Amino acid sequence: MPSAPSRVTSLSRRVSAISESATLAMDRRAKELVAAGQKVISFAAGEPDFPTPQMVVEAAARACHDPRAHHYTPAAGLPDLREAVALKTRRDSRLPVDASQVMITSGTKQAVSHAFTVLLDPGDEVLIPAPYWVTFPEAVALAGGVPVPVATDETTNFKLSVDDLERCVTDRTKALLFVSPSNPTGAVYRLEQMRAIGEWAAARGLWVVCDEIYDAFTYDGAEFNSLPAVVPELQPRAICLNGVAKAYAMTGWRVGWMVAAPTVISAAINLQSHVCGNISNVSQLAALAALQGGLEPVREMRAVFAQRRQRIAARLNALPGFECVPPEGAFYVFPSVQGLVGRSLEGHVVQGSADLADLLLDKAKVAVVPGDAFGAPGFLRFSYALSEEDMGVGLARLEALLS
Ligand SMILES: Cc1ncc(COP(=O)(O)O)c(C=O)c1O
Repeated sequence: MPSAPSRVTSLSRRVSAISESATLAMDRRAKELVAAGQKVISFAAGEPDFPTPQMVVEAAARACHDPRAHHYTPAAGLPDLREAVALKTRRDSRLPVDASQVMITSGTKQAVSHAFTVLLDPGDEVLIPAPYWVTFPEAVALAGGVPVPVATDETTNFKLSVDDLERCVTDRTKALLFVSPSNPTGAVYRLEQMRAIGEWAAARGLWVVCDEIYDAFTYDGAEFNSLPAVVPELQPRAICLNGVAKAYAMTGWRVGWMVAAPTVISAAINLQSHVCGNISNVSQLAALAALQGGLEPVREMRAVFAQRRQRIAARLNALPGFECVPPEGAFYVFPSVQGLVGRSLEGHVVQGSADLADLLLDKAKVAVVPGDAFGAPGFLRFSYALSEEDMGVGLARLEALLS
């Protein structure tokens, strides 16, 4: 007879409490249906549909043939890449940093995880604006901290105010997570809103962890700004995270970084040296080629996203029961679908956004991520980082099902 799991045979409580990333889960379900021969259109994945720029691929191919790239690199990353990241951060984030303040990570996701591992002791609280990217609360919890969602809604275009923060701060609060442009809402903060939030965090002596991965993707005159550049007092306690995944269509190469004060970086390097040693040498050389190659590929991709964004937002808004604030950044639209709850679709009464996402996959073969996964039930996240043609087919299927 099988015995009940004991402390020895069971897995750790910390890891057992994590759930699969909902975005990856929905994308996996869509891919399984495609593999089974179904024509599924996926709006679920947060990755550009563009190939990596050719000159990056060629630099990586040359690196593969160069034995110098077959070996370990320093745990902090290749010196030239750290230099290039410092230059990019000075240019785009307008932060006065040098290469010693940079550590290369396996994607921005690992930088998120390392930032919280370096900062948090058990029970430390982190304020996380909701709706949030699914990994933020899990990364905080895995590092022993307590994620504290700070709710925002469509009435403020999903942007935090100091009053919202005041309601959630406690004497255990150690850090504020800040992301602009945001996933899943596409919200981009204005300078004066950032100044108020940054000054509040500085006055409280909090750390700020700033995820800047969508810095290249802003539209309609909205501008990316880095929180510690807007409020320089924050710089000693700011950890800025970014990577090549989104801007250079390099999601699979897994190169990101963190930029912070030297004490934070040296702690993170110690951590990295035991976690994975270093990031793939060839991938680092590919990322170096991307950063040194200039902004042309990024601008081209942004221009395409800007057009798709107009089209998808207009067509989603025209669907019965859908309502969306036009997103100003990233490559997501986050419509409210509360108007569909309780309505009967093909004989099924819609219970909520998770139920609707299942129904859309089942009946229209369209994959989207329910807002429930981002701490915002009642919404759906559509990524428009998919081909024009697929986007058109997917939207037509929704129109046919819902109209
Ligand atoms: C806000 C945010 N940060 C980080 C990442 C992960 O980036 P990377 O692929 O560099 O790990 C994502 C990916 O969806 C994201 O949306």
